[in-house]
Amino acid sequence: MTNVTKKDNSLKIKAPIVEALKNAYEHPSYQFHIPGHTKGRSILPDFRKLIGKKALSLDTTDEFDNLGTLHPATGPIKEAQELAAQAFGAEKTFFLLNGSTVGNLSLAMGLTKKGQKVITNRNCHRSILTGLIISGAEPIWVVPKRLEEWGIWGYISPESIEDALKNNDDVGMVWITNPTYEGVVSDIKSIADICKKYDVPLIVDEAHASLWNFSGHLPESALKLGADAVLHSLHKTGGSMSQSSMLHVAKNSKINVNALEKALRLLHTTSPSMLLLASLDAARANLESPSGRKQIERAVHNAKYLRREIDKLEHIHHLQADFGYKTDVTKVFIKADGLSGKRLESILEIDFNIEAESASDEGVLLLCNAGNKRSDIQYLINCLKKIDKTNYSDICYLENKKYMPMLSPEIRMSLRDAFFAEKEVLPKSKCIGRIAGEVIAECPPGISVLLPGELITEAHLPYLVGYEFIEVIK
Ligand SMILES: Cc1ncc(COP(=O)(O)O)c(C=O)c1O
Repeated sequence: MTNVTKKDNSLKIKAPIVEALKNAYEHPSYQFHIPGHTKGRSILPDFRKLIGKKALSLDTTDEFDNLGTLHPATGPIKEAQELAAQAFGAEKTFFLLNGSTVGNLSLAMGLTKKGQKVITNRNCHRSILTGLIISGAEPIWVVPKRLEEWGIWGYISPESIEDALKNNDDVGMVWITNPTYEGVVSDIKSIADICKKYDVPLIVDEAHASLWNFSGHLPESALKLGADAVLHSLHKTGGSMSQSSMLHVAKNSKINVNALEKALRLLHTTSPSMLLLASLDAARANLESPSGRKQIERAVHNAKYLRREIDKLEHIHHLQADFGYKTDVTKVFIKADGLSGKRLESILEIDFNIEAESASDEGVLLLCNAGNKRSDIQYLINCLKKIDKTNYSDICYLENKKYMPMLSPEIRMSLRDAFFAEKEVLPKSKCIGRIAGEVIAECPPGISVLLPGELITEAHLPYLVGYEFIEVIK
C-alpha cells in the first residue's frame, strides 16, 4: 500500500513533517526558544552564506510551531512514523536520530538483560557491542563464512545459528547483520524459521538495505522474511540526511515494544532536529513515489552497467553473487590485481578525484546510489579502464596495516565486566598476552578488532598499526 493521494490531477505523496515544517517557515512565530541562533540570525556569516538562510530558519526542534513531539510521538511526527511503517510493511516504526547506532543501543538496553546470551555475528557493528556493554548481555559469536580471496566477511549460515541455539540456554535474541557492508546477503528466511523453532526473537541490522523494500531487483527485506525488528540507516542509501535512521517492529513481532520505546526515549536527544526528522519523512515519501522508484531502478541499471564494463577489464574484478550467496547489486566491491584495496582507493582519489565508500585490505567498495547519474558511472568506468591499463606496481607503497578484522576472539572475561574493570594503559609492544580493556573497531567498517575481555595476541598487531598505547585489564 502506498501513501499516495490524488490532488489537482497530480500524484501527491503525503509527507506530514515536511508539510508542518513548510507551514512553520511560511508563518514564522516570534521565537523565544531554542535553538538560540534564532533562524540563523546569530551565527557566523560565512556559515550562513554556506548553508543558506532558509536551511537555518528550518533548523528547529520538536514541540514548537505545531511540529509534534518525538517522545511520545505526537502530531506530524506520529503521522510520519505511521506512514513509514505502512511503506516498509512494519507494525510500528521509530524515527531515529544518532543513526542506527541509537537503534542498536536501544534494542540492547530495552530487550536484553545482564548475563543473558545474545547470538550475534562477529562482524557486527560496534554499536551492537556498545549496547551489550550497557545491558550486560553476553555475545555468543557466530563466525560467518570468510571470503578470503576478497578479504571480507561473507554470509551467516543458518546452520551456524541453529548450532548456537542448540548449544546455549537463556538466549535472549538472535541479532544479525544483513547484508554485509560489501553487500553479501544471508538466507534470512531460513534463519527466521530456525529462530521461530527455538522461540527466540530475530533482530536484523539492515543498516545498509533501506532500498530493498522498494525494488523487485534488490533482495527481500527481513521485515518480509520473519524478523521481529529491523534497522535501516536511511541516511546511508535511502536518501535522508546524515544520522537519520528508522527502527521497524515487524507485524506479529515477539519483542517488547514498550521496553524498546522506553530505552529509545532515554537514549535519544531531548532536542531532536526537525530537519533530520523531516528528511526521514521526505525520504520515505520519495522512495514510495514513482520518481523515487525510478531513481532506485536507475541505481540498479547503473550498477549492472558498471559490472558489465568491469567484466571487460583484464585486471579489475567485482564481487558478484555466487552459488553460495546473493548480493545487493548496487554495492560494487572491486579489486585490482597487484594492488591492495587501500592503494586502489588512493589512486581513485588522488589521480581521478573519485571518493569511494570505503577500502579494505583487498578491495574498494563503490556504492551505486539512487542519486548517481549515468555520467558519474561513465566517468568511473573510464577511470577504471585507465587504471586497468596502467602499471602502478612501480610505485613503492609501504603497507603494514590491516583493515578488515577477520580474527576469531579468545574471550577471557565478560564484555561488560572487562569494560568497567580497572585498567592500565600500556605501550602496544607490552600488550601481547594481556586482556583488552577497550573496544577497538575503526570505522569504516566499525567491525571489532578487539573487545574488552579478549586476549591480545600477535595476530592483532597488523590491525593496531595506528595505536601506540592500548588499554588493558590491570
Ligand atoms: C551494519 C551497521 N549497523 C549499524 C551501523 C550504525 O549506523 P549509523 O551510522 O546509522 O549510526 C552501521 C554503520 O556503518 C553499520 O554498518
